[in-house]
Amino acid sequence: MKTIRININGEWKKLKVNPQDRLIDTLRGQLGLTGTKEGCGEGECGACTINLNGKAVLACLILSVQTDESRILTIEGLQKGLELHPLQTAFLNESAVQCGFCTPGMIMAAHAFIRENPEPDMQMVKECLANNLCRCTGYEKPVKAVLAAACSMRETNHD
Ligand code: FES
Ligand code: FES
Repeated sequence: MKTIRININGEWKKLKVNPQDRLIDTLRGQLGLTGTKEGCGEGECGACTINLNGKAVLACLILSVQTDESRILTIEGLQKGLELHPLQTAFLNESAVQCGFCTPGMIMAAHAFIRENPEPDMQMVKECLANNLCRCTGYEKPVKAVLAAACSMRETNHD
């Protein structure tokens, strides 16, 4: 076992992890953050996307020991109290969620993307979501939701 220190959704925590533990297992199993989903477990579906030091990464492909002294943001860290993040609100408003399995990964991919691209166009958003597989809604509504959220975040100076 190795002790790591991570900032998870704004709070620093010390954890004991095995060298072979994947980040998705630590998040879901040890920390109970089950909003992050495991689809393929092989880096193909995007369901496990989280933000690591502000970048969108796949939690099924990262070992927990690699995240020592890192800042991790998961879908649970977006909402502030009862207030949804603009991305969450936009996905609801645009009816961009059906079964919801892909939704946390899409939102976390979009969150990192908007930080780097605060004024994206539709093509940029399509490329951002291209690695997040959805079997239910197609991509039209999620793309609209990300564009609406980016607009709302610019107007309200929301991060
Ligand atoms: S579960 Fe990580 S990419 Fe599919
Ligand atoms: S909403 Fe079901 S997989 Fe995307």
